[in-house]
Amino acid sequence: MEEASGRVTPEPGRALISFRGIHKYFGENGENQVLIGIDLDVYPGETMVILGRSGSGKTVLTSMLVGLNIPDKGGITVEGVEITEFVTDTDWRSLRLKTGYLFQGSALYDSMTVGENVAFPMVQHTDWSEAEIRRRVAEKLGQVGLSGVEPLEPSALSGGMQRRAALARSLALDPQIIVYDEPTAGLDPITGDEISSLIHRLQDALKVTSIVVTHDLRLTQLVADRLVLLHEGQWVFQGTYEEFLHSSHPEVLRFLHREPQGETTP
Ligand SMILES: Nc1ncnc2c1ncn2[C@@H]1O[C@H](COP(=O)(O)OP(=O)(O)OP(=O)(O)O)[C@@H](O)[C@H]1O
Ligand SMILES: [Mg+2]
Repeated sequence: MEEASGRVTPEPGRALISFRGIHKYFGENGENQVLIGIDLDVYPGETMVILGRSGSGKTVLTSMLVGLNIPDKGGITVEGVEITEFVTDTDWRSLRLKTGYLFQGSALYDSMTVGENVAFPMVQHTDWSEAEIRRRVAEKLGQVGLSGVEPLEPSALSGGMQRRAALARSLALDPQIIVYDEPTAGLDPITGDEISSLIHRLQDALKVTSIVVTHDLRLTQLVADRLVLLHEGQWVFQGTYEEFLHSSHPEVLRFLHREPQGETTP
């Protein structure tokens, strides 16, 4: 359901992405319990922000959507299809086609030009002609305000431009779902705000369903329809940004005020 503001109201039972009882452990004996039974629904057209301190499992959770991590327990459905049962490349293919993933830290391939970077998912996953790919690369770079940089090496771009180029690459296949892992991290505040506005504009223009992993509250305020705060393997808050600001949950307060987790904390 879409309100006049363009914001999306969740409809129970209509989740596009559904995490159910997700557990993930690392370490030889599974002693590092990173996710302990996460239940989370993301609805069509909404932007869900995932907040949490460094190491709280944001990347582990969201990278499961592209098969870079597999839960030890639990299920994930996308449009009702259980992706944790995917086995073959063909199984993953249709999901990869509809999911854009912006890696933490951009991760452009240094050995390729910017144009080749953006073309890469198209070359890998489609049989589009070279001319078609060239046209689409130009279109995607245009969407992120980087027209004409195809021949440049990634190292010739500023940090903010590299992030835009990586964003163009995650848009390459016209995804229905975009996962952004810390899209503004490591950028100066002004460049970070430019990337935030760009994500906001893309949300409006493309009508995609997005998951945004971040620590950045300015980005959160701008793009979040709803947000969750991960802490010690579970989410401890779920709601709108307004509700987050007024929450009295101790971990929300610590997060907002950036208070260190003291030994004497109740
Ligand atoms: N491949 C791996 N092998 C072992 N441990 C891992 C692996 N991937 C993640 N972890 C552990 O899982 C925990 C959560 O990692 P994750 O990268 O999801 O954190 P994050 O919330 O994304 O943090 P950040 O904000 O720093 O990116 C960390 O304790 C990390 O050490
Ligand atoms: Mg991370």
